[in-house]
Order: sequence, then structure tokens, then C-alpha cells
Amino acid sequence: MKKLYGVIGDPIAHSMSPAMHNDAFAALGLDAHYQPFHITREDLPVAIAGMKVIGVAGFNVTVPHKTAILPLLDEIDPLAAAIGAVNTVVNEKGKFIGYNTDGEGFIRGLHEEYGKPVLDKHILIIGAGGAARAIYYTLSQQGAVHVDIANRTLDNAQQLKARCPYPVNTAILTMEEAEAKLAEYDIIIQTTSIGMSPKVEDLPLRLSTIRTDAFLSDIIYNPFETAIMKEAKQRGARVQNGLRMFVYQGALAFEKWTGKLADPDRMEKIVIDKLG
Ligand code: ATR
Repeated sequence: MKKLYGVIGDPIAHSMSPAMHNDAFAALGLDAHYQPFHITREDLPVAIAGMKVIGVAGFNVTVPHKTAILPLLDEIDPLAAAIGAVNTVVNEKGKFIGYNTDGEGFIRGLHEEYGKPVLDKHILIIGAGGAARAIYYTLSQQGAVHVDIANRTLDNAQQLKARCPYPVNTAILTMEEAEAKLAEYDIIIQTTSIGMSPKVEDLPLRLSTIRTDAFLSDIIYNPFETAIMKEAKQRGARVQNGLRMFVYQGALAFEKWTGKLADPDRMEKIVIDKLG
């Protein structure tokens, strides 16, 4: 029987995950379908119960349900529990198990493009929201040694650091402090919404002292090239946008559901075509 997968969120109409996963199912000859489900906050509990009764084989979780879903699941992977957010659910013999593949997806994409191991590098994360938490906790879990955090609201960054269950050497910085010591970083990770369409000219900080051998990774992919990516390039550094993170969080979910590896280049092409 055809297996049913999907993504739950609100809004969900513009999600690129259905096209990406349905193409991957077809490419691997799997009898499965991936469906977007528009689920409001108030309907989340009944939706999860319904998906279980129907026997949905697995699904992704997006805004605004990534945290609210935790108490509704049967088990939560320790990393996802630490992050406090689930983006992937696997139906294992009738039990819904929650995982978070955002941080791991980011690290795979970064490693691929950076071309060298990243865990021993001097890393700066800009931002302290949900995406920063997934990336910081996953980097820490994997053994990163030095990851500083710069954020507008220092208290948010302090809390993010304090609640991390994995050991890592971290300084909390204002944006100005980070600007002043930018030359210390090998890898700079931009996780805020600053520079996202339509406010594409905005920058979280200036990169006056970025090294030419540094690498800047912005998790935004709309626009493809943010203002901070442009500045990094002008100063001779290498850059990447958030497409690879999006593709790999999906590829990792796909692997958890099917045990098979999806082709990330093919997935990325689907997303680029959808973005126009
Ligand atoms: P996400 O879950 O996508 O990471 P979020 O949780 O809303 O989004 O986090 C947004 C991040 O972007 C935070 O680090 C936020 O800074 P604060 O902690 O100070 O709120 C940052 N951010 C968003 N808009 C910003 C702006 N205009 N200037 C500076 N930082 C901003």
C-alpha cells in the first residue's frame, strides 16, 4: 500500500517540501506520497491523533508547531529535546518519534561547501533564535570546541548558552563586540531574519575585519544572496546561502523515513525551480 508522508504548518501552501520529497520518492521508485497539511494551532492535538490513526508513516513539522508538538509525541530524540523543537516525526510501529534535523542539515551543508572539518574551527553564530539553537546545540553535541554567539538581546544568547547540555567554549557578544573581533573567526553563521526579502539591504553587523580565508554561511535563501553575503564576497571571503541546509534537513528526514539516501543535488534543483 502507498505510504503517506507530509508536512504540517500554518501557513503551508508555499512549502517546497512536497515537491522535493515527491520527486525523491519517484527517483527511488518508492510507492509513497508527501502531502502538505494546513493545521492551525488549535487543531494540532486532534491532527496528530488523526495522523496516528490513519497511519501516516512520517511527517515534517514547520512554523508554528515545532515546539508545541513535543508533548504530543510518544518519544523525543535527546538532541531534539535539548533544542526544544522537532522538525521530523517518524512513525515507528505506531509510535510517533520526534527528531530535529535542522542543525545536522546545516552542518552537512556547511562541511560540504567549506571543504574541511568544521568542528575544530573558531565559529561565530549571529542570532539566538530557534534556528541558532538548533545549530549551536548540534555543533556542541558533535564536539565543536569554540562557538561564540552575537545577538541584539544578550539575555536571549545567555539563555541559549546556559541551556545547552553539551560542553563548548562560548563567549556571548554584542553585535559591536563581534564586529571588533571578527578577524578571529574561521566560520561565521548568520541565523537571524535580517536581510530576508523584502528588507534585503539590512545587515546584522559589518564585516570590516573579516579574513579572506573566512567562510560566511547565511541560513537565508530568499534572496539567494543577502547583503551580508555580498559584503563577505567583496572582502574576499567565501559564502553560502541557506539552500543546502534546507535540502539536507529534508534529505536527513527522508533517510529516517525510508532508510534510503535522496540525491541532494536533485532536491536542490527542485527548490530552485520552485523559487523561480
Ligand atoms: P528563528 O526561529 O527563525 O531563528 P526567532 O526565534 O524569531 O527566529 O529569532 C530571531 C533572531 O533574529 C533573534 O536572534 C533576534 O534577535 P533578538 O534575540 O534580539 O530578538 C534576531 N533578530 C530578528 N530581527 C532582528 C533585528 N531587526 N535586529 C537584530 N536582531 C534581530
